[in-house]
Amino acid sequence: MTKYPKITTIQRCRICHSSNLFKFLSLGKMPPPNLFPKPDLPKREPFFPLDVCFCQNCNLVQLKHTVNPNLMFKDYIYVSSATQTMINHFENLARHLVKKFNLKSQHLVIDIGSNDGTLLARFKTFSVRTLGVDPAQNLVKVAQKKGVKNLPVYFQSSTAQKIKNQYGTAQIITATNVVAHVHDLHDFFEGVKILLDKKGVFVAEFPYLIDLLQKKEFDTIYHEHLSYFSVKPLLRLIESHNLELFNVEKLAIHGGSIRIYVSFAGQFSKNTANINKLLELEKRENLQSLLTYTKFASFAYQKRQHLRQLLKNLKKSKKRIVGYGAAAKGNIFLNFVGIGNETLDYVVDSTDEKQGRLTPGTHIPISSESLLIKDKPDFALILAWNFAEEIISKNRQFQKRGGKFILTTPKIQII
Ligand code: TMP
Ligand code: ZN
Repeated sequence: MTKYPKITTIQRCRICHSSNLFKFLSLGKMPPPNLFPKPDLPKREPFFPLDVCFCQNCNLVQLKHTVNPNLMFKDYIYVSSATQTMINHFENLARHLVKKFNLKSQHLVIDIGSNDGTLLARFKTFSVRTLGVDPAQNLVKVAQKKGVKNLPVYFQSSTAQKIKNQYGTAQIITATNVVAHVHDLHDFFEGVKILLDKKGVFVAEFPYLIDLLQKKEFDTIYHEHLSYFSVKPLLRLIESHNLELFNVEKLAIHGGSIRIYVSFAGQFSKNTANINKLLELEKRENLQSLLTYTKFASFAYQKRQHLRQLLKNLKKSKKRIVGYGAAAKGNIFLNFVGIGNETLDYVVDSTDEKQGRLTPGTHIPISSESLLIKDKPDFALILAWNFAEEIISKNRQFQKRGGKFILTTPKIQII
């Protein structure tokens, strides 16, 4: 399938090319957390190292290795429409951008990492032109059913040029939870530059490093996420392409994210206050200091110890525990903490494609959510903690019958 190696190691920072990279955390060898094995297939799964570095020159936090994207993204099991929270989030994002940038029917919106077309389908309701770009071959038809055209390619400068030749420039380019997945960030931004209308806006969302550190979200570290962004290195990246970051907003989604607004220089009035607020926060939280990261690493090991003890105690008192949400982060969590089917009877998940498969590396069977109410286990460990609110509010019946949820993030709680 792949003419490139399965995994490569970086020697230089993905943004500033400095070799001054310090590895501060190793989660060990992990399976790519979105490759769910089928029960009848030999369990020969790939395992790749998951090591995290800090660039002491530009301060980008990034993975030491790059797993070949074809192994992770050509056939993609995660769908944006699996949660009501994301559907609502995309509805609001589309509405917000159409209004803020006065989009009309002649304008083109391109979504990079368009997945199953959830975001673009919302844009279509506002009668703008849309085009999705996503390497997942399996999602082309799924998006099509929503009336969304997805080109099954990676977004890079060469594909951006081809898209521009065929479709023209875009008024809006969106990229939600995809920039962190990109190995060659400079080529990606060159692509944005090629395809963006001179008066257009590039809007991207991704998890914010501040939240990862403050809430000890170690399980959001996985092979797909190559970069863990803060504003400081991002600004350097954007400006090195003569583009301008003109606004940034903090979001609660996915355990804490930021949304950036980028344009050609001078096109929009710059919200310096918002940008400086985050730059100052990053300074106050010592994001420029290596010690912050080594401390985070020891927190991750401590948290692992607490969780192991908690689960061990529950099993000792003969409690039945299941998992809720076979999220990618949940799979890193299970592998890192060392939880298998001796602890969790099964994991429930709303994604049709995940049901009937096993969790990567830990081989716990995945069932539909309805099993929780039917089976009545004592505890449900919320693996998709970024959606805890949605999960708890739709399972009040489970709690009424005496079931309890275990939440791991932002702190360990029993609810
Ligand atoms: P994510 O954290 O990578 O976005 O994945 C969330 C996973 O959690 C996804 O597989 C769907 C699952 N999930 C449920 O099964 N039920 C729910 O109510 C919610 C909110 C998520
Ligand atoms: Zn750097």
